[in-house]
Amino acid sequence: MSHLRVDRMLQSQGFGTRRHCQQLVAGGHVRVAGEPIDDPAAVIETAGLAFTVFDEAWIHREHVYLALNKPPRYECSRRPSHHPGVLSLLPEPLRQRGVQPVGRLDHDTTGLLLLSDDGTFIHAQSSPKRRVGKLYVADTAEAVTPELVAALLGGVQLHDEPAPLAAVHCEQLDACRIAIELEQGKYHQVKRMLAAAGNHCVALRRVAIGGLRLEALALAEGQWCYLGEAELAQLAAG
Ligand code: URA
Repeated sequence: MSHLRVDRMLQSQGFGTRRHCQQLVAGGHVRVAGEPIDDPAAVIETAGLAFTVFDEAWIHREHVYLALNKPPRYECSRRPSHHPGVLSLLPEPLRQRGVQPVGRLDHDTTGLLLLSDDGTFIHAQSSPKRRVGKLYVADTAEAVTPELVAALLGGVQLHDEPAPLAAVHCEQLDACRIAIELEQGKYHQVKRMLAAAGNHCVALRRVAIGGLRLEALALAEGQWCYLGEAELAQLAAG
């Protein structure tokens, strides 16, 4: 059980400064558990709380864990320079509460991207020690050969790496398409591994992280969803 003043609850959920949240409540723009509320100092139970702000429905969440189907031409960096940032695809309160991408996809890579405002989760997911497979589908410029698949599985040497990097899984899907699963998340890793193996990546899509598959989330490009406990558990599964 956790109790909070309604203005502090709104602030924690990304609705602006305490003062702004007080004005939202006093102005009659907030409903809590279906009831209008106009006292910013009213104390409420937050666990599982449903509330609305300007008639938009929200659930109180201590932290948020999101999956986004990243479209091309969006940047994951905090200060995007050439394309809009992925955070621009989220509602303002989620940005306000400090949601950040977990790791990065290149601006032209599409597919499954996790985001959260839970620093411990972001750190744990991004740790190099975390050996969870990330599955990509890569379109290649040149035809896929058994030698290419064997090279990616056997390990290829990248310029700035001390040892060869190998895919944990790789299979041909089409004449110019492979599925490739990596446990590391090095800079441009799929593209650089394909180049080092003598081919070239022309399109890249992340389709799964651990046991969490993008297709199971049924998100159109640019859409996002909250991840529940079951989906978070799938992230750790192989
Ligand atoms: N590997 C890449 O080359 N780019 C990505 O965005 C992700 C993995």
